[in-house]
Amino acid sequence: MPQSSDLPTRWRSEFPILQTHTYLNSCSLGALSRRSMGYLGEYQALWNSMGASAWYELWLGRIAELRGHVARMWNARENEIALTPSVSAALSSVASTIDYTKRNRVVVSDLDFPTLVYQWLARPEVEVVRVPSDDGIGVPPERWAEYIDERTAIVATSHVFYGTGYVQELEPIARAAHAAGALFLVDGYQAVGQIAVDPRASGADVYVAGPLKWLLGGPGLAYLWVREERIAEMRPTVTSWFGARDQFSFRVDEYEPREDAGRFSLGTPAVPTVYTALGGMEIFAEAGERAVYERIAGLTADLVARLEEAKFELKIADEAHRSGIVMVRHPEAAAAVARLAQRGIVVDHRAGYVRLSPHFYNTEAENELAVAALR
Ligand SMILES: Cc1ncc(COP(=O)(O)O)c(C=O)c1O
Repeated sequence: MPQSSDLPTRWRSEFPILQTHTYLNSCSLGALSRRSMGYLGEYQALWNSMGASAWYELWLGRIAELRGHVARMWNARENEIALTPSVSAALSSVASTIDYTKRNRVVVSDLDFPTLVYQWLARPEVEVVRVPSDDGIGVPPERWAEYIDERTAIVATSHVFYGTGYVQELEPIARAAHAAGALFLVDGYQAVGQIAVDPRASGADVYVAGPLKWLLGGPGLAYLWVREERIAEMRPTVTSWFGARDQFSFRVDEYEPREDAGRFSLGTPAVPTVYTALGGMEIFAEAGERAVYERIAGLTADLVARLEEAKFELKIADEAHRSGIVMVRHPEAAAAVARLAQRGIVVDHRAGYVRLSPHFYNTEAENELAVAALR
């Protein structure tokens, strides 16, 4: 059983950026591993040596392998997982399954990532209802029930809020959505790779995330889980040949969606990202998912303690809802981020706050460096 505190010693040399930078921005973009770089080289070599036959002989297999990793990590079935080009693309395909003439409301929160909300703001036939956050940090689960009713087609929100790190309790929201006959969709992009995720147990009907951030896999793909029992009733009108039941029939006189979640696929997947994402997934499995989550929680507690000691004002959840995203109030957040970058410390900012996000490869010494620099 790997010890979470041993993780940096074992894994830091795997990530070149950690040799040159204090990297505390994994919630924007996880660090690139030597493993992923090696796989990317392999992908290029195959492209050169095999051309299009790499597709049929190898790349389709690697795509299936990645779906298998996602399914295992989420305690899900492979037929419930689709790969899409981005979370936004996955959301638009899901949004296209709903008949808004029957129910025209979509309930989101004030703290969700904009791309989630835009899917429905962009549709004039939809009334978007936003659940407010009283403290600007989270939304108590009971608030959701006040805004969900029989006019609600879908409740769509984040597992972890990108701007505060608040972890939502999904089960009560799922219950409120289902009691009103609505679907429940969760954007888990800021959750996967830093906390345990089990979409089925959470009560969600749809769960979306991707490899870019905590899963160390780079940009170009997203993962969409759809509860098996829901797939047949959800027929996307934003679709592609990859979503068709018989993709290689090349028929143009009819369209039937695949029976599994593959019906939500949107065109040729980004194979380079499949390769880099596999590198990240393997590292997760080898480091031990539980140990990684524990390490992130430990480093977050350490960072918060150091920041509080230095008298910074933080925007973070109570311990029960906290994750590895730490927001530090700063009068000139953008300038502070730029100054830290000059010292090789990579952090980010959102709306007047500096945002730090330690991953399992970081150390307490790096936390201290960042806090000292901020001070
Ligand atoms: C919670 C959340 N959802 C969605 C996105 C964006 O996803 P995509 O660019 O794949 O559409 C982000 C990116 O920062 C995010 O933090």
